[in-house]
Amino acid sequence: MRQAGRYLPEYRDLRAKAATFLDFCYDPALAVEATLQPIRRFGFDGAILFSDILVLPDALGQRVAFESGDGPRLDPICDAQGLAKLSRQPDWNRLAPVFEAVDRLKTALPSDVALIGFCGAPWTVASYMIAGRGTPDQAPARLFAYRHPDLFAALIDRLVDASAEYLVRQLAAGAEAVQIFDSWAGVLPPAEFDRWCVAPMAALAAKVRAKAPEAPIIAFPRGAGTQLAKFAPLVGIDAIGLDTAVEPKAADAALPGRFALQGNLDPLALVAGGPRLDHEVERVLDGFVAPRAHIFNLGHGILPETPVGNVERLVARVRGETSP
Ligand code: CP3
Repeated sequence: MRQAGRYLPEYRDLRAKAATFLDFCYDPALAVEATLQPIRRFGFDGAILFSDILVLPDALGQRVAFESGDGPRLDPICDAQGLAKLSRQPDWNRLAPVFEAVDRLKTALPSDVALIGFCGAPWTVASYMIAGRGTPDQAPARLFAYRHPDLFAALIDRLVDASAEYLVRQLAAGAEAVQIFDSWAGVLPPAEFDRWCVAPMAALAAKVRAKAPEAPIIAFPRGAGTQLAKFAPLVGIDAIGLDTAVEPKAADAALPGRFALQGNLDPLALVAGGPRLDHEVERVLDGFVAPRAHIFNLGHGILPETPVGNVERLVARVRGETSP
């Protein structure tokens, strides 16, 4: 999940050096520093590249902006004309600073810290491209997919190809694993979930796997709930990120033992802190049992109001430096 961000004072200082959030993402020196900040402070085992899932629509020629405090804004795609305006291929020159940041991080990070690259899943990225913004349930994209399934499939196909190549290039530049964020998987009813979440995720993982056979791939189908089992046959994927609503034992029962599970502390428990945080950390640690591999993580991104001391407390607890 996100590690960098507005909860860290040093991040806020760094952020002030770039005029816009996209300028920040496309400045290798700033992106490297933002990636390193939480590692320096907390000594995490894995670093997630500092960037955003919406650099891909930007590189495909769609206008993307981040309004301060108001989330992303894109020129929405409403019809075939809108889709036709997109480039066939991402502008790789535009994304070159991302690969440059990955390359620099390879040497800047301690050798025992894994560097995780990422992209958005086709469905989640498409949902922002259609709506032009975040919405409570991504209804604009769901409606578009019912009304214009062929057009929507064309957009998804294009995102599968572009995202696969984007991840392969991150791996070539030095990322050791990649994570695919399907943050809006949970708003899809079963048939739509199969078509727009599972199938594109499978195609994307297979394409990455074909060019980077060894690289671990993590999928994060947020809100999948009882549909998690649909990921079981997805052979290209090595680990599943679980959101806060998933009972660890239910995920264990739904997925073959070869999948590592990542998650799933509630980010609000981390805001709350104190003994209640300790209790929730224990609950997560106890929920995942060997021999299944578990990667301790939050169930979604860290919140800006999170006290830094609570993160220190969490790390000490997970590492067993404080007794339960
Ligand atoms: O350590 C990190 O922060 C990793 C980098 C990272 C960011 N975004 C930076 C970011 C990652 C992995 C993401 C993924 C991302 N971006 C997702 C998938 C994961 C998730 O959270 O569901 C999504 C849906 C986005 C799109 C996006 N980017 C939104 C909706 C927003 C606004 C969020 C808000 O709270 O206002 C962003 C902005 C963003 N991306 C920030 C950061 C640190 C905050 C903006 C800022 O600091 O100015």
